[in-house]
Amino acid sequence: MDADPHGPPATAAGPRAEGAHPMTERTIGYIVGSISSTSINRRLAKALERLAPAGTTLVEIPIKDLPFYSQDYDADFPQVALDFKKAIADVDGVIVVTPEYSRSIPGVLKNALDWAARPYGQGSFDGKPTAIIGTSGSPIGTAAAQQHLKAILNHLNAPLLGQPEGYVQSLPGVFTDSGEVTNDQTAEFLSGYLAAFNGLVDRYAKVSVGA
Ligand SMILES: Cc1cc2nc3c(=O)[nH]c(=O)nc-3n(C[C@H](O)[C@H](O)[C@H](O)COP(=O)(O)O)c2cc1C
Repeated sequence: MDADPHGPPATAAGPRAEGAHPMTERTIGYIVGSISSTSINRRLAKALERLAPAGTTLVEIPIKDLPFYSQDYDADFPQVALDFKKAIADVDGVIVVTPEYSRSIPGVLKNALDWAARPYGQGSFDGKPTAIIGTSGSPIGTAAAQQHLKAILNHLNAPLLGQPEGYVQSLPGVFTDSGEVTNDQTAEFLSGYLAAFNGLVDRYAKVSVGA
């Protein structure tokens, strides 16, 4: 849950949620910033997948097979990186689910974001509605990593979900491997979070069709 006592209420869908549009069909991609076989952030992502509002499908955009990015690739991106960029292009929005490593984001996630940023002028996050969430055992639940991630995604010109912030403390047993959430308050918070993100995606969809 949002462990910051000075932050917004953890269960709020956010002041700008504008109501979900449950029958709007859409696909949201998610990136898990951990390649650990026992990742608690993957469990959180699975929980989001299960809690997705009606009409919204969450699909993973995998990052584990991306090589280390180098500018040498700019003239000829490998297929795995082209697939990664196409996967982002094909979805209506992206949720980045990140662990915190050494008070920042893991290298595997930064590497994926660098692939997304290039070739120059073809940034995959440019105009792509994006939300950030993460979990750790710490009471501040990845808050420091998320500040770094926000700075990166702002630079990549992604419209970001501001509220609610997704600082989720992982207590033992809260998320099962298959994404069940055993704590009602956490499930309610995650549902509100997804509804708020749908509101952001709605607004950008309207802008892009000139409504
Ligand atoms: C290299 C490394 C650095 C870490 N640094 C932090 C940290 O700064 N803050 C934190 O809350 N947890 C930190 N942790 C603990 C992680 O939150 C924990 O390992 C968590 O399970 C990682 O997420 P994952 O299970 O999704 O891979 C660190 C773990 C590792 C392996």
